[in-house]
Amino acid sequence: MWQSEHLHEVPVLMVACGILDEPDQDPNMYASSIWPGIQNLLLAARAMGLGATPTTFVMQYRAELEALLELPPRVAAYALIPVGFPLGRFGPLSRLPVEQLLHYDRWTGRDNAVRSTARRRPGGRRP
Ligand SMILES: Cc1cc2nc3c(=O)[nH]c(=O)nc-3n(C[C@H](O)[C@H](O)[C@H](O)COP(=O)(O)O)c2cc1C
Repeated sequence: MWQSEHLHEVPVLMVACGILDEPDQDPNMYASSIWPGIQNLLLAARAMGLGATPTTFVMQYRAELEALLELPPRVAAYALIPVGFPLGRFGPLSRLPVEQLLHYDRWTGRDNAVRSTARRRPGGRRP
């Protein structure tokens, strides 16, 4: 929420794009190779002391964004990555322990990860 309200203050807004084989391909089906590149970008930014986060909320306005950037028909936008100077805490990230996220052979055990994710979603509760 804070991020979307302060987006106009962020010094750099990067848009990750992909090149489709055909203009009428569904961009959502061809995004897989974009994300490793975005992850590398995030790691590089962090190593340089910059804050950067992947966001997709702007994709609800994908057509408007692509028109604004004058993307050719075969180029689709996938993510907006605000990059800026961190405010406040910029230390190690908090992540759930791997043993709460990793399952062998099938989804087993207590669903701590699912519960934790649902808590973070607005109004999010899973049955
Ligand atoms: C694929 C993807 C899309 C995301 N889209 C949004 C988004 O649209 N808006 C948002 O506030 N956070 C979004 N996030 C979450 C933020 O990028 C970020 O991960 C979150 O603020 C937690 O920060 P941290 O990863 O540094 O702990 C997205 C994360 C991922 C992986």
